[in-house]
Amino acid sequence: MKIAILPGDGIGAEVTREAVRVLEALDLPCLTLFEGDVGAMAYHRHGHPLPDETLDMARRSDAILFGAVGDPSCDNLERHLRPEQAILGLRAELGLFANLRPATVFAGLEDMSGLRPELARSIDLLILRELNGDVYFGDKGIRTNDAGEREGWDMMSYATSEVRRIAHSGFRAAQKRGNRLCSVDKANVLETSQLWRDVVVEVAAEYPDVELSHMYVDNAAMQLVKDPGQFDVILTGNLFGDILSDLASMCVGSIGLLPSASLSERQTEFGTFGLYEPIHGSAPDIAGQGKANPMATILSAALMLRHSFGRETEAKRIEAAVAKALADGVRGGDLGGEHGCSAIGDAVLERL
Ligand code: IPM
Ligand code: MG
Repeated sequence: MKIAILPGDGIGAEVTREAVRVLEALDLPCLTLFEGDVGAMAYHRHGHPLPDETLDMARRSDAILFGAVGDPSCDNLERHLRPEQAILGLRAELGLFANLRPATVFAGLEDMSGLRPELARSIDLLILRELNGDVYFGDKGIRTNDAGEREGWDMMSYATSEVRRIAHSGFRAAQKRGNRLCSVDKANVLETSQLWRDVVVEVAAEYPDVELSHMYVDNAAMQLVKDPGQFDVILTGNLFGDILSDLASMCVGSIGLLPSASLSERQTEFGTFGLYEPIHGSAPDIAGQGKANPMATILSAALMLRHSFGRETEAKRIEAAVAKALADGVRGGDLGGEHGCSAIGDAVLERL
């Protein structure tokens, strides 16, 4: 079981360290860990945010544990050298098209949610975000328009095959949960979304047991705050999924708690090849101070065991240990508590 560990920038190093301790504590047979450079730290060391050696290591692994990328020192670099290009490059190069962002409220944390506790308690949803297309990967640039003004442009598009592939993932995910799929788009304005909707409807015919609904993204943002309990699986494109998943994290209580899995079509001898990362960023303001909450990364390691290694038992053990730590009052600064990064790691390990 070869895992590439890519800690990256800011708090990425501290949070992945705790997740690695948890993985090692499980005593899995033949666990091999490699560590590689990504993001701003890779740019400073190698002149590129995603060096060839790192990409090769990622390709040779069965799964990747990723921390975070981003650093203010790189804000003025050309776009292709910015740290964010490391994660976008990995997603594109490795065909990581299906991004699973589950959101549920942990018992005892209802008061941390931006929502009323009874609404928070009702949250049990999965955002399935397409990760290889959309305006993220379209042509883009800055040009001078006819009026002589600088004009930024980004091309949004989805091909039928891209929508079909993620729609199948969405329906299958719904079958494993509550059999409800809500496809989120902006079909009242965007042609890209109209095609998205048409294709999702066509794929739905193969899943008569799943109840399909459609929602415009602006309404979905409102509904997530008004009545989040109505959602089971939310299927959406790259840009809308980016925004809605941050929104969902605040409904849960903290962005420091939400893990994610980015899956490809490739099957390894153990399971589906994927990259696992917390949905939060590098948080340069608290980096290196031992204050970050590693729970989202630890929970990402649980998703890795489930999807890439078929180890459901161990995945559930990790999730239960995190839930127990939270129920026992273990809280990072993001939750108004005093526990530091390694103290949270210790607390989870004890309960494991
Ligand atoms: C995320 C992040 C990334 C994204 C950034 C770092 C490029 O916000 O994973 O949600 O926009 O996809
Ligand atoms: Mg984001």
